[in-house]
Formats: sequence, C-alpha cells, structure tokens
Amino acid sequence: MKVAIASDHGGINIREEIKSLLEEMGIQYEDFGCECSTSVDYPDYALPVAEKVANGEFDRGILICGTGIGMSIAANKVKGIRCALVHDTFSAKATREHNDTNMLAMGERVIGPGLARDIAKIWLTTDFEGGRHENRVNKITQYENANPSL
Ligand code: RB5
Repeated sequence: MKVAIASDHGGINIREEIKSLLEEMGIQYEDFGCECSTSVDYPDYALPVAEKVANGEFDRGILICGTGIGMSIAANKVKGIRCALVHDTFSAKATREHNDTNMLAMGERVIGPGLARDIAKIWLTTDFEGGRHENRVNKITQYENANPSL
C-alpha cells in the first residue's frame, strides 16, 4: 500500500505522528506538505492529494487540518474519492468496512495525537466488507459516472 499524506498549518503535529506510525507499520508514504510556518489554504493540499489517490498513483490518502472538515469537503469534490472525517475508533473501522473509504481526514484541534494514531492504524488495517455495502458504494460511483461535470 502507498499512502499520500498532507496537512495545513493546523495539522502539522498529527501529520508527523501519522508519518511515524506509517514508518512503524512499514507502509510506504509520501508527504505533500505543508512546509508552513504561517497560515495556508487547505484546498491547496487536499485537492492534489485527492487527485493522486483518484488516479491510482497512491492507494490511500490521509489529510489533517484544524477540524478535518475543510480537508474532507475538498477531497470529496474529486471524482472517485470517498473521504471520511473520523474522530473515533468505531467510525474508523466502520467507514472502511461499509464505505470502502480511500481517504481519511482528521482535525488536530479536535483530537490528540494518540487517538489520531489509533484511528489511522484501524483505518489502514480494516478491509471493506463488500456485499450489500458494495451495492451502496457502487450507487455513488454510478452517480459520479452519470454526471461527467462533477
Ligand atoms: C485553519 O484555520 C482552519 O480553518 C483549517 O485548518 C480547517 O480547520 C478547515 O476546515
């Protein structure tokens, strides 16, 4: 698995925490910034990472900002992206099993580094259940494919 990771200025510390987790887990990753000491705009980081996941360059993407909300909104604008904003371990497992999410967003002003690490570990290691959930995910893909302007 290859993971693309990025944050804005509000998510730098958790981004570092998740990078150390990925190293411990032996998962290949690339860090797409930010290299910021001042404020930056989260879409400038979310959209390129989402495109790299959507085009298959990376298998998964992880985004962190202050709340995780802006990053998840932006990522979900990219066709083929299913980005979950997650701040608890139950949802981390459920969103992989039920939604086959390919991107994870978290907020550094919402949770601490320990919980972010647990969430990312569960999200990275939980398989999609398929079956009835696959039918549901397929309906989203069909909607995207039927609306090429998306
Ligand atoms: C930056 O202040 C903050 O708005 C951003 O990190 C994020 O929380 C946006 O959703």
